[in-house]
Amino acid sequence: MALRIIVKDPDPVLREVANPVSKITPNIHKLLTDMADTMYDADGVGLAAPQIGISKRVIVVDVGDEHGLVEMINPEIVEKEGEQVGAEGCLSIPNLNGEVKRAFKVRVKALDREGNPFELVGEELMARALQHEIDHLNGILFTDLATNLYDPNARRRNEGPRR
Ligand code: NI
Repeated sequence: MALRIIVKDPDPVLREVANPVSKITPNIHKLLTDMADTMYDADGVGLAAPQIGISKRVIVVDVGDEHGLVEMINPEIVEKEGEQVGAEGCLSIPNLNGEVKRAFKVRVKALDREGNPFELVGEELMARALQHEIDHLNGILFTDLATNLYDPNARRRNEGPRR
């Protein structure tokens, strides 16, 4: 298990358009494995390679649904449907949440770790995570899209006792 350091906003690598992977190498396998380890260690549901300082089009997602760990190389959204609004955060932007409008359902095509093309259809949280991570590959952060940014910890304090 190898953990990588998660870079934080405003690191410029988070604003780059990441490069497509042209060849699957042992380095890409190690990158995918390290990204999953780093995501789980940080209690995240997704991680994009730029978030560990690597400007390549690689993401991992695990929202705890039936898909389990999803590894994607050169992912591309080919279909979007519907709409959802919900809270998001980002491992590169600690202590900040915000409401973001996303498609409810997306179809994404990508390469798996062997370089084989596949498609995945995700809804709700899975769709949200995929859109968030693929945005990272284009230098877009959720704070660019969010309304009412807030510190989730401060908000919890202000909410008072639950009734
Ligand atoms: Ni993020």
